[in-house]
Amino acid sequence: MTERESIMSQTRAFVKAALEHDSSGHDWWHIVRVARSAKLLAEIEGGEAYVCELAALLHDIADEKLNVSKEAGLRRVEDWLAEAGVDVNTAEHVMLIISTMSYGGGGGALMETLEGRIVQDADRLDAIGAIAAARTFVYSGWKGRLICDPNVRPRVTMTKEEYRSGKDTAVNHFYEKLLKLKALLNTESARMLAEERHVYMVRYLEAFDREWELGNSEYL
Ligand code: ADP
Ligand code: NI
Repeated sequence: MTERESIMSQTRAFVKAALEHDSSGHDWWHIVRVARSAKLLAEIEGGEAYVCELAALLHDIADEKLNVSKEAGLRRVEDWLAEAGVDVNTAEHVMLIISTMSYGGGGGALMETLEGRIVQDADRLDAIGAIAAARTFVYSGWKGRLICDPNVRPRVTMTKEEYRSGKDTAVNHFYEKLLKLKALLNTESARMLAEERHVYMVRYLEAFDREWELGNSEYL
Protein backbone atom coordinates (compact mmCIF):
# COMPACT_ATOMS: atom_id res chain seq x y z
CA MET A 1 0.00 0.00 0.00
CA THR A 2 1.38 3.43 -0.92
CA GLU A 3 1.46 6.23 1.67
CA ARG A 4 -1.42 7.97 -0.07
CA GLU A 5 -3.53 4.79 -0.09
CA SER A 6 -2.85 4.34 3.60
CA ILE A 7 -3.85 7.97 4.37
CA MET A 8 -7.00 7.51 2.34
CA SER A 9 -8.03 4.31 4.09
CA GLN A 10 -7.34 5.80 7.55
CA THR A 11 -9.35 8.88 6.59
CA ARG A 12 -12.27 6.72 5.44
CA ALA A 13 -12.26 4.93 8.79
CA PHE A 14 -12.06 8.24 10.71
CA VAL A 15 -14.98 9.79 8.81
CA LYS A 16 -17.06 6.62 8.95
CA ALA A 17 -16.69 6.44 12.73
CA ALA A 18 -17.63 10.12 13.05
CA LEU A 19 -20.69 10.11 10.80
CA GLU A 20 -22.09 6.58 10.73
CA HIS A 21 -24.85 7.35 13.23
CA ASP A 22 -25.73 10.77 11.86
CA SER A 23 -29.44 11.20 11.16
CA SER A 24 -29.38 14.69 9.65
CA GLY A 25 -28.76 13.59 6.07
CA HIS A 26 -24.99 14.07 6.42
CA ASP A 27 -24.28 10.44 7.27
CA TRP A 28 -21.42 8.22 6.06
CA TRP A 29 -23.30 7.18 2.90
CA HIS A 30 -23.67 10.83 1.89
CA ILE A 31 -19.89 11.06 2.18
CA VAL A 32 -19.43 7.89 0.09
CA ARG A 33 -21.67 9.30 -2.66
CA VAL A 34 -19.88 12.66 -2.65
CA ALA A 35 -16.44 11.00 -2.70
CA ARG A 36 -17.45 8.79 -5.64
CA SER A 37 -18.88 11.72 -7.60
CA ALA A 38 -15.78 13.81 -6.82
CA LYS A 39 -13.51 11.04 -8.14
CA LEU A 40 -15.60 10.70 -11.30
CA LEU A 41 -15.66 14.46 -11.90
CA ALA A 42 -11.91 14.67 -11.25
CA GLU A 43 -11.33 12.03 -13.90
CA ILE A 44 -13.47 13.79 -16.52
CA GLU A 45 -12.45 17.37 -15.68
CA GLY A 46 -8.76 16.61 -15.11
CA GLY A 47 -8.56 17.56 -11.41
CA GLU A 48 -6.19 15.98 -8.89
CA ALA A 49 -8.13 12.96 -7.63
CA TYR A 50 -6.22 12.65 -4.32
CA VAL A 51 -7.10 16.18 -3.18
CA CYS A 52 -10.70 15.83 -4.41
CA GLU A 53 -11.28 12.55 -2.58
CA LEU A 54 -9.69 13.72 0.67
CA ALA A 55 -11.70 16.96 0.68
CA ALA A 56 -14.90 15.07 -0.20
CA LEU A 57 -14.34 12.61 2.64
CA LEU A 58 -13.70 15.34 5.20
CA HIS A 59 -16.09 18.09 4.03
CA ASP A 60 -18.91 17.45 6.51
CA ILE A 61 -16.65 16.79 9.49
CA ALA A 62 -16.41 20.59 9.67
CA ASP A 63 -20.13 21.29 9.10
CA GLU A 64 -21.41 24.06 11.37
CA LYS A 65 -24.64 22.15 11.97
CA LEU A 66 -22.71 19.23 13.46
CA ASN A 67 -20.14 21.20 15.51
CA VAL A 68 -20.10 23.82 18.24
CA SER A 69 -18.89 26.38 15.69
CA LYS A 70 -17.49 26.58 12.17
CA GLU A 71 -14.01 27.22 13.61
CA ALA A 72 -14.20 24.17 15.88
CA GLY A 73 -15.26 22.05 12.90
CA LEU A 74 -12.40 23.31 10.74
CA ARG A 75 -9.94 22.62 13.56
CA ARG A 76 -11.12 19.01 13.67
CA VAL A 77 -10.27 18.61 9.99
CA GLU A 78 -6.93 20.38 10.37
CA ASP A 79 -5.99 18.16 13.32
CA TRP A 80 -6.89 15.06 11.36
CA LEU A 81 -4.81 16.06 8.32
CA ALA A 82 -1.79 16.57 10.61
CA GLU A 83 -2.39 13.33 12.50
CA ALA A 84 -2.73 11.31 9.28
CA GLY A 85 0.50 12.79 7.94
CA VAL A 86 -0.96 14.53 4.88
CA ASP A 87 1.68 16.70 3.17
CA VAL A 88 1.45 20.45 3.82
CA ASN A 89 0.43 21.50 0.29
CA THR A 90 -2.39 18.96 0.10
CA ALA A 91 -3.53 19.77 3.65
CA GLU A 92 -3.67 23.51 2.83
CA HIS A 93 -5.59 22.83 -0.35
CA VAL A 94 -8.09 20.58 1.43
CA MET A 95 -8.60 23.24 4.12
CA LEU A 96 -9.15 25.93 1.48
CA ILE A 97 -11.78 23.78 -0.23
CA ILE A 98 -13.63 22.82 2.94
CA SER A 99 -13.65 26.30 4.44
CA THR A 100 -15.16 27.88 1.32
CA MET A 101 -17.39 25.26 -0.31
CA SER A 102 -20.63 25.31 1.69
CA TYR A 103 -23.74 26.94 0.25
CA GLY A 104 -24.17 29.16 3.28
CA GLY A 105 -20.51 29.91 3.96
CA GLY A 106 -19.50 30.12 0.32
CA GLY A 107 -22.18 32.70 -0.41
CA GLY A 108 -22.10 31.75 -4.09
CA ALA A 109 -18.49 32.89 -4.62
CA LEU A 110 -16.54 30.90 -7.21
CA MET A 111 -14.20 28.31 -5.74
CA GLU A 112 -10.54 29.21 -6.31
CA THR A 113 -9.29 25.88 -7.67
CA LEU A 114 -10.57 23.24 -10.09
CA GLU A 115 -10.49 20.67 -7.27
CA GLY A 116 -12.63 23.01 -5.13
CA ARG A 117 -15.15 23.43 -7.94
CA ILE A 118 -15.28 19.63 -8.35
CA VAL A 119 -15.88 18.84 -4.67
CA GLN A 120 -18.48 21.58 -4.38
CA ASP A 121 -20.27 20.15 -7.43
CA ALA A 122 -20.09 16.61 -6.01
CA ASP A 123 -21.70 17.80 -2.75
CA ARG A 124 -24.36 19.77 -4.64
CA LEU A 125 -25.17 16.77 -6.87
CA ASP A 126 -26.17 14.89 -3.71
CA ALA A 127 -28.60 17.74 -2.98
CA ILE A 128 -30.36 17.37 -6.37
CA GLY A 129 -32.68 14.46 -7.20
CA ALA A 130 -34.36 11.49 -5.56
CA ILE A 131 -31.79 10.91 -2.81
CA ALA A 132 -31.71 14.66 -2.18
CA ALA A 133 -35.47 14.59 -1.57
CA ALA A 134 -34.99 11.85 1.03
CA ARG A 135 -32.18 13.83 2.69
CA THR A 136 -34.34 16.93 2.85
CA PHE A 137 -37.20 15.16 4.64
CA VAL A 138 -34.77 13.49 7.02
CA TYR A 139 -33.08 16.82 7.79
CA SER A 140 -36.42 18.51 8.40
CA GLY A 141 -37.47 15.73 10.77
CA TRP A 142 -34.14 16.03 12.56
CA LYS A 143 -34.91 19.75 13.03
CA GLY A 144 -38.49 18.98 14.17
CA ARG A 145 -40.03 20.76 11.18
CA LEU A 146 -43.15 20.10 9.11
CA ILE A 147 -43.23 18.26 5.78
CA CYS A 148 -45.16 21.13 4.25
CA ASP A 149 -47.17 24.18 5.29
CA PRO A 150 -49.22 25.66 2.44
CA ASN A 151 -49.17 29.04 4.16
CA VAL A 152 -45.42 29.39 3.80
CA ARG A 153 -45.01 27.72 0.44
CA PRO A 154 -43.40 28.41 -1.91
CA ARG A 155 -41.10 30.96 -0.32
CA VAL A 156 -38.00 31.34 -2.39
CA THR A 157 -36.27 33.50 0.15
CA MET A 158 -36.89 33.40 3.87
CA THR A 159 -35.90 36.07 6.35
CA LYS A 160 -33.62 34.91 9.18
CA GLU A 161 -36.53 35.49 11.62
CA GLU A 162 -38.91 33.28 9.65
CA TYR A 163 -36.22 30.63 9.40
CA ARG A 164 -35.48 30.73 13.14
CA SER A 165 -39.13 30.75 14.10
CA GLY A 166 -39.41 27.32 12.49
CA LYS A 167 -41.44 28.43 9.46
CA ASP A 168 -39.07 26.58 7.15
CA THR A 169 -40.50 23.27 5.96
CA ALA A 170 -39.07 20.36 4.00
CA VAL A 171 -41.02 21.22 0.84
CA ASN A 172 -40.07 24.88 1.14
CA HIS A 173 -36.42 23.87 1.10
CA PHE A 174 -36.81 22.60 -2.48
CA TYR A 175 -37.83 26.10 -3.60
CA GLU A 176 -35.47 27.93 -1.31
CA LYS A 177 -32.38 25.97 -2.35
CA LEU A 178 -32.56 22.65 -4.18
CA LEU A 179 -34.19 23.89 -7.39
CA LYS A 180 -31.55 26.63 -7.64
CA LEU A 181 -28.54 24.33 -7.38
CA LYS A 182 -28.45 23.18 -11.02
CA ALA A 183 -27.70 26.74 -12.16
CA LEU A 184 -24.91 27.07 -9.59
CA LEU A 185 -22.87 24.06 -10.70
CA ASN A 186 -19.30 24.78 -11.79
CA THR A 187 -18.46 21.99 -14.22
CA GLU A 188 -20.02 20.79 -17.45
CA SER A 189 -19.94 17.14 -16.34
CA ALA A 190 -21.82 17.92 -13.12
CA ARG A 191 -24.40 19.88 -15.13
CA MET A 192 -24.97 16.82 -17.31
CA LEU A 193 -25.37 14.55 -14.29
CA ALA A 194 -27.72 17.06 -12.66
CA GLU A 195 -30.16 17.34 -15.55
CA GLU A 196 -32.17 14.16 -14.94
CA ARG A 197 -32.08 14.63 -11.17
CA HIS A 198 -33.43 18.18 -11.45
CA VAL A 199 -36.28 17.10 -13.73
CA TYR A 200 -37.13 14.37 -11.24
CA MET A 201 -37.43 16.92 -8.39
CA VAL A 202 -39.71 19.15 -10.48
CA ARG A 203 -41.94 16.16 -11.29
CA TYR A 204 -41.91 15.10 -7.67
CA LEU A 205 -43.09 18.54 -6.53
CA GLU A 206 -45.83 18.55 -9.16
CA ALA A 207 -47.05 15.17 -7.88
CA PHE A 208 -46.83 16.46 -4.32
CA ASP A 209 -49.03 19.45 -5.22
CA ARG A 210 -51.59 17.27 -6.98
CA GLU A 211 -51.90 15.08 -3.91
CA TRP A 212 -52.12 18.07 -1.59
CA GLU A 213 -54.78 19.78 -3.75
CA LEU A 214 -53.60 23.23 -2.86
CA GLY A 215 -56.24 25.96 -2.90
CA ASN A 216 -59.21 23.63 -2.53
CA SER A 217 -59.32 23.48 1.21
CA GLU A 218 -61.39 25.55 3.63
CA TYR A 219 -58.66 24.88 6.20
CA LEU A 220 -56.01 26.96 4.46
P1 ADP B 1 -24.08 22.33 2.13
O1 ADP B 1 -23.30 21.68 3.23
O2 ADP B 1 -23.97 21.68 0.80
O3 ADP B 1 -23.90 23.81 2.09
P2 ADP B 1 -26.34 21.74 3.74
O4 ADP B 1 -25.54 20.89 4.65
O5 ADP B 1 -26.97 22.98 4.26
O6 ADP B 1 -25.58 22.12 2.43
O7 ADP B 1 -27.45 20.88 3.09
C1 ADP B 1 -27.26 19.57 2.68
C2 ADP B 1 -28.62 18.92 2.55
O8 ADP B 1 -29.26 18.87 3.83
C3 ADP B 1 -29.58 19.72 1.69
O9 ADP B 1 -29.43 19.48 0.34
C4 ADP B 1 -30.91 19.25 2.19
O10 ADP B 1 -31.23 17.99 1.66
C5 ADP B 1 -30.63 19.15 3.67
N1 ADP B 1 -30.96 20.46 4.28
C6 ADP B 1 -30.14 21.45 4.64
N2 ADP B 1 -30.82 22.51 5.15
C7 ADP B 1 -32.13 22.15 5.10
C8 ADP B 1 -33.37 22.79 5.47
N3 ADP B 1 -33.40 24.00 6.00
N4 ADP B 1 -34.51 22.09 5.27
C9 ADP B 1 -34.50 20.85 4.74
N5 ADP B 1 -33.39 20.20 4.38
C10 ADP B 1 -32.22 20.84 4.54
NI1 NI C 1 -22.13 17.34 2.28
